[in-house]
Amino acid sequence: MDEEHFETRAIHAGQEPDEETGAIMTPIYANSTYVQDGPGDDRGYEYSRTGNPTRTDLEENLASLEGGEYGRCFSSGMGAINTVLNLLESGDHVVSSDDVYGGTRRIFDQVYEQYDLEFSYVDMSDHEAVRDAMRPETELLWVETPTNPLMRVVDLAAMVEIADEFDALCAVDNTFATPYLQRPLEFGANVVVQSLTKYLGGHSDAVGGALVTDDPDLDEEFGFYQNAVGATPDPHGCFLVLRGTKTLPVRMDRHCENARELARWLDDRPEVSRVYYPGLPSHSTHDVAARQMDDFGGMLSFELDATLEETSEVVSSTEVFALAESLGGVESLIEQPAAMTHASIPPEEREAIGLTDGLVRVSVGIEHVEDLRADLRDAIEGVLG
Ligand SMILES: Cc1ncc(COP(=O)(O)O)c(C=O)c1O
Repeated sequence: MDEEHFETRAIHAGQEPDEETGAIMTPIYANSTYVQDGPGDDRGYEYSRTGNPTRTDLEENLASLEGGEYGRCFSSGMGAINTVLNLLESGDHVVSSDDVYGGTRRIFDQVYEQYDLEFSYVDMSDHEAVRDAMRPETELLWVETPTNPLMRVVDLAAMVEIADEFDALCAVDNTFATPYLQRPLEFGANVVVQSLTKYLGGHSDAVGGALVTDDPDLDEEFGFYQNAVGATPDPHGCFLVLRGTKTLPVRMDRHCENARELARWLDDRPEVSRVYYPGLPSHSTHDVAARQMDDFGGMLSFELDATLEETSEVVSSTEVFALAESLGGVESLIEQPAAMTHASIPPEEREAIGLTDGLVRVSVGIEHVEDLRADLRDAIEGVLG
């Protein structure tokens, strides 16, 4: 049989009906240890931090979706990110996108800098700036695309070329796009990072993370740190994500469709000065996105012609959109970066990078788009009308 399509692998990869009972879903192997036939003579599993069959099925499923050989799961996206950083040694240098997820920036600056690792932040749409930031001791190029909250799409082929030139690893956080829309390993990235908490789980009911690579040596190191550090997921969480990945393609199609529709509608609203959605031809990275992604995703931001307080009022008055951080679930979420996810950035710095007081970020869910549009219209007109 030819290589199966993504939609088929999403449902079947890594999973076989249970041999004994025929159960079609991978069971939740809720056990900490495994009986051995003799000392050291186990049946592939000895202790659940080291390995668990529910986790194995999820790891194989995710590896298949990202188009990689090896997958490793962690208790959160941050657990996965930490594992990549475990590869580094003191004195190493990392070049990162300047608008990475705040938690990523926090682990870089507040956890790893004290171990004598250095981090430089650059706007990755400027390839020369990325090249200039690279040093002989740069071991890792950290890319997140699309970025948050301005949805800039970074050119992965160009980043891999620069990383290769300097003999550095290229890691890509693919959480916003998901493997359904973008597969960084196809562009030559060494490792893909996922927060499973978002679209892959998809139902806002589980926290998890994953790393996928084609490199057996890297995978072995990830496996070592997975076991040695112990940020491993519970089998119940793995089961939920495994269930989530089965519907990833249909969910993503609807997320993208709804986001595209809302982006166009917002673009025509008089109260909205700017819409950040890579699917709009006016977006600064539309061309890269059209080349690199299969569709433009379910995340978008827009800027209201409004003060911080007025914008807070708008995001507090929606009824279908829930006022919450996070993203990627079936339900639509709304938030105000300047007052919530990015509030820790000083106001002047925030303004300079385009995170204005009137900026609103939405994770567009899969409800009926007319209800989403009506909800946004009522909230905007209710405050600014
Ligand atoms: C792009 C991105 N990467 C990583 C993470 C961290 O994932 P987790 O919350 O599962 O630890 C997040 C969380 O919001 C994220 O948005």
